[in-house]
Amino acid sequence: MTTPATAIDRARIAELTEREQQRLDAATPRSQALYERARTTLAGGVASSYQVRDPWPIYLSHGLGSRVWDVDENEMIDFHNGFGSMVQGHAHPAIVKAVGDRVKLGTHFAAPTEDGIVVAEELSRRWGLPRWRFVNSGSEATMDAIRIARASTKRETIVKIFGSYHGHHDYVMVSIGVPYDRIGDREDYASLPYGGGIPQASADLTIPVPFNDAGAMERRIERLFEEGRPPACVIMEAAMMNLGVVLPEPGYLEAVRELTQRLGVLLIFDEVKTGLCIAAGGATERWGVKPDLVTLAKTLGGGLPSGAIGGSEEVFEVVERGDVYQVGTYNGNPLTMAAARASLQEVLTPDAYAHLDALEDRLLRGCQDVIDRYGLPGYSVGVGAKGCVTFSPERIVDYETFKEHQDVEITELSWLYAMNRGIFMTPGREEEWTLSVAHTFEDCDAFVAAFEELASDLAR
Ligand SMILES: Cc1ncc(COP(=O)(O)O)c(C=O)c1O
Repeated sequence: MTTPATAIDRARIAELTEREQQRLDAATPRSQALYERARTTLAGGVASSYQVRDPWPIYLSHGLGSRVWDVDENEMIDFHNGFGSMVQGHAHPAIVKAVGDRVKLGTHFAAPTEDGIVVAEELSRRWGLPRWRFVNSGSEATMDAIRIARASTKRETIVKIFGSYHGHHDYVMVSIGVPYDRIGDREDYASLPYGGGIPQASADLTIPVPFNDAGAMERRIERLFEEGRPPACVIMEAAMMNLGVVLPEPGYLEAVRELTQRLGVLLIFDEVKTGLCIAAGGATERWGVKPDLVTLAKTLGGGLPSGAIGGSEEVFEVVERGDVYQVGTYNGNPLTMAAARASLQEVLTPDAYAHLDALEDRLLRGCQDVIDRYGLPGYSVGVGAKGCVTFSPERIVDYETFKEHQDVEITELSWLYAMNRGIFMTPGREEEWTLSVAHTFEDCDAFVAAFEELASDLAR
């Protein structure tokens, strides 16, 4: 049971937002001071525009297990986990040891090491894909996977899901966060560059289609064939993880796999967020649908910059023949490979995934219980280590329903409530929580308690 978003008093949301904003500002004076210093040299005071926050970002000092501390010595339970990278928890002893041992033996040669082979073997086992290469970020992984797909099919056009984020290179910075009225017709969505510096000519090669609608994808791909620009690949997340969490409807992924195979279009699952986070073998294992190529990053490196591309022997032929230069000075960096090996072999074990599932269940149920008791417009949703409360009176299944229904003001207020109650959450309404193996049921209960305070204050 939900009540419409309009039933919540907007003036009350504004009043609580102002109160909570002041409380957070008062608790973070050293972050403010660091920001004042940082902004004179670092553009916007941060290393990445995704770290920008008004009036200042929260600067962290350290982390251990499920906890992080900011420079004002506020201790928080970390549900942000480095945009979903730290499923191992902070400073996990196995990773600390692996990195510590490796650092004394030299950290970079631009020559292969044995750890890289072990990591590739383990990924191959988990994903059932025989060939792998390493990169240093999710963006590099999706860029190279698309290049491999293009070379393999000798085609240039690519298809992506409207609203999905796949990194910051030109191929995929297309049709992500845009005003609702610019989306265009559902059967023929617009290819819109996301931010400045992206040539329209490049964006035009990227064709967006709606999530959870295999029919629309098939019709668009067929038209691309008719227009003489057949696509090389579909790149997609099996579950969208940048509109909160949007799960695939039953049968959707199977239908996408069937139609791409039938039409001769390669399927790339971008598992930068889902991979190693929602199951040992990511979305590919969870939903039992195998793509031609998969991209990993984030959790793979246990906190070090990492990325990987996996695929079938056929698609990797263009790399092995030397047609595609899949290259990078830091690819397979020994330090990263040592961390990834320890993570895969000692941390992200079957027991770890059982623990993450149990935590997730507790958190989802706890949040849903609060929503139901207070009649909030929304629902909890998630899978594996990832989840969120989506504030929307309607279920969100794609970008259109997200833009139409999501309640931005409550979402922002809920972030402030979390931060002021010792819950470090990912800023931004599109984001979700990430659990780690170091989290406990008590950590989940603390999250739910902070959420209940919000619900109760809104109800007053
Ligand atoms: C699904 C997905 N793909 C790719 C990327 C890009 O990864 P990175 O930021 O490591 O370049 C992200 C980043 O959030 C992502 O969520």
